[in-house]
Amino acid sequence: MRVIVTGGAGFIGSALCRYLVGECGWQVLNIDKLTYAADQRSLASIEGAPGYRFMQADIADGDKISHILDDYQPDAVMHLAAESHVDRSIDGPGDFIQTNIVGTYRLLDAALHYWRNLPEDRQKTFRFHHVSTDEVYGSLGAEGLFTESTAYQPNSPYSASKASSDHLVRAWHHTYGLPVVVSNCSNNYGPYQFPEKFIPLMILNAMAGRKLPVYGDGQNIRDWLHVNDHVAALRLVLQHGTVGETYNVGGRNEARNIDIVHQIINHVRDLSPHRTLPPDDELIEFVADRPGHDRRYAIDATKLENRLGWQAQYSLETGLRDTVAWYLNHSGWWQPILDRKYQGQRLGVA
Ligand code: NAD
Ligand code: DAU
Repeated sequence: MRVIVTGGAGFIGSALCRYLVGECGWQVLNIDKLTYAADQRSLASIEGAPGYRFMQADIADGDKISHILDDYQPDAVMHLAAESHVDRSIDGPGDFIQTNIVGTYRLLDAALHYWRNLPEDRQKTFRFHHVSTDEVYGSLGAEGLFTESTAYQPNSPYSASKASSDHLVRAWHHTYGLPVVVSNCSNNYGPYQFPEKFIPLMILNAMAGRKLPVYGDGQNIRDWLHVNDHVAALRLVLQHGTVGETYNVGGRNEARNIDIVHQIINHVRDLSPHRTLPPDDELIEFVADRPGHDRRYAIDATKLENRLGWQAQYSLETGLRDTVAWYLNHSGWWQPILDRKYQGQRLGVA
């Protein structure tokens, strides 16, 4: 397989490139604009691999993307490039509209043009895989799960922009026949995640003995998915998913934010006994809630499990412990980010 991955210098995209090149032996061209969220050091393990190439490009630059497609002749495009942080979308929605909606439109148009010019046999096997989020479905009450037929009800500028992109992808299939597959997944965690997101922020703050800012009452629930489980699912959806269909990806790992925070503190104490941390209630600080904060996400992954044979390999307990261990051992990766890009300040208070 010869694929273009967009957003491959980000958290999930870099895990996908490492997996496809390093474990599956595929040829990958990574296209990334290199925003603040990108880090090419996350790709060091495959940088010299013969099957891997990188090109800096904005997905909203339609002409450049068209040239890249014609030149590289991929069998598939896996589209992950996005502005991805909900809090930043509250502070500045413009970039989210530009990349997630306009950028996806330009990428779709370039892909359609490329696909139409392929020979018939390659047209049949070509795929445009759009990687999206469970946040498009809105917020759940205490019961129930998101399925592929749950109505869209996005609540943040981020999720509204991702919902728009999902609709564009659907329309490009329905109207123009572009062979697309879509996956919507829950909260990812694991190594190389930018420290503005909940789990890495809590780990780094706990390690430094800084306050752990928990939004609202800490009872919000997320359904955690290890990034390695996610990228394995993405490969299955790309290769075996039915054209025009959506697959939900989730690890069946629901947890309240406050419980994750206690687990992280325990893992830091356990894995790094020389640190003397204050008691949990002195470390944890309940802060003003995120505006429009979705209460609960939970994914029903039955379709992916039954039709494509996917199973999550990580329990939240082992995955979280491994992740804490990774951050403890990789200050060389995150310290420059804290020094130069993001110092852990509160975002998205509107
Ligand atoms: P990320 O923010 O870590 O990385 C995004 C990458 O996209 C960065 O490398 C950035 O430079 C690149 N990018 C941004 N704008 C671009 C543009 N205009 N052109 C080219 N590249 C651009 O994001 P992530 O957490 O790795 O998420 C990847 C995808 O998965 C996103 O589409 C996101 O919506 C989706 N998703 C993420 C999660 C999660 O928990 N992180 C869950 C569900 C879905
Ligand atoms: O559900 C999938 C989505 O998960 C992805 O589409 C997004 O790209 C990804 O960022 C993530 O969105 P969330 O808003 O759920 O993730 P975040 O890490 O920002 O927050 C997780 C939970 O933790 C949420 O309930 C808010 C809370 N939180 C977050 C931060 C950063 C805190 O309590 N304190 C914090 O400092």
